[in-house]
Amino acid sequence: MLVNATQMLQSAVKGHYAIPAFNTNNLEWAASILDAAEESQSPVIIQCTSGAAKWQVSFKTVADLVKDLVEAKNITVPVAMHLDHGTYEDVFKCIDAGFTSVMYDGSHEETFELNLERTAEIVKIAHAKGISVEAEVGGIGGVEDGVASMGELADPQQCKAIADTGVDFLACGIGNIHGLYPENWAGLSFDRLSEIKALVGDLPLVLHGGTGIPTDMVQKAIGMGIAKINVNTDLQVAFAKATRAYVEAGKDLQGKGYDPRKLLKPGREAIVTRAKELIVDFGSAGKGWA
Ligand code: 13P
Repeated sequence: MLVNATQMLQSAVKGHYAIPAFNTNNLEWAASILDAAEESQSPVIIQCTSGAAKWQVSFKTVADLVKDLVEAKNITVPVAMHLDHGTYEDVFKCIDAGFTSVMYDGSHEETFELNLERTAEIVKIAHAKGISVEAEVGGIGGVEDGVASMGELADPQQCKAIADTGVDFLACGIGNIHGLYPENWAGLSFDRLSEIKALVGDLPLVLHGGTGIPTDMVQKAIGMGIAKINVNTDLQVAFAKATRAYVEAGKDLQGKGYDPRKLLKPGREAIVTRAKELIVDFGSAGKGWA
């Protein structure tokens, strides 16, 4: 069932597990993510950047697709349709398009004050429509959809100010990076995470850049208040690897191996398998409507 993300994240904080937030790119992604969540009986967040929405034509195409899939597949676990790293303008487009949850990423605004002001405005408007809101303090390193940041550690006082706007969950930079981690990555800053947690209380915290963080580090972060983990690259790599194996084995040249339903099948199955592994790592398997 399509819901906003508030309840599932509050339950995750209480239960010391994290909700997987998988980025979608197309029909195969959305369907595979839903299959993994249903088979694992895990709540799930399907999220989409503006770049991925453009690829699929529009935010509305994505929202309608996910909504129809949830119904047609009889998905029984809670599913939130979430905007990932939205600009101020994207947020309003997604509210109109039927998203149940939005991230306003104000970390790229010229000043923190503007981030704070716009977050507060969006919280009021979105909440009036039953839509949950994620905000961000401190850029997340790496490049995602052309949006780059230095990956600073979030300022705990700024996190507290944003938390006080009534936002439902908060992404805070703690040394995490989008995409694959470099060899010399310093790891997550647990000191900064605990400073932030001490000021924001039970507010669910979000870990972006979930690909490639060692599982013990991820689980330690969950124990310290991380309740949503964003994963994009990991499933892309899983899909690409399975598709490459199919082509390298020459299977696209055998019979009707070029049929997209055959060509894309190994990648689609690889997404399901990998998403289910991550769901186990994050502790959300079996949490359904917990
Ligand atoms: P990765 O691509 O590193 O998994 O990051 C995903 C993400 O944080 C989406 O916001």
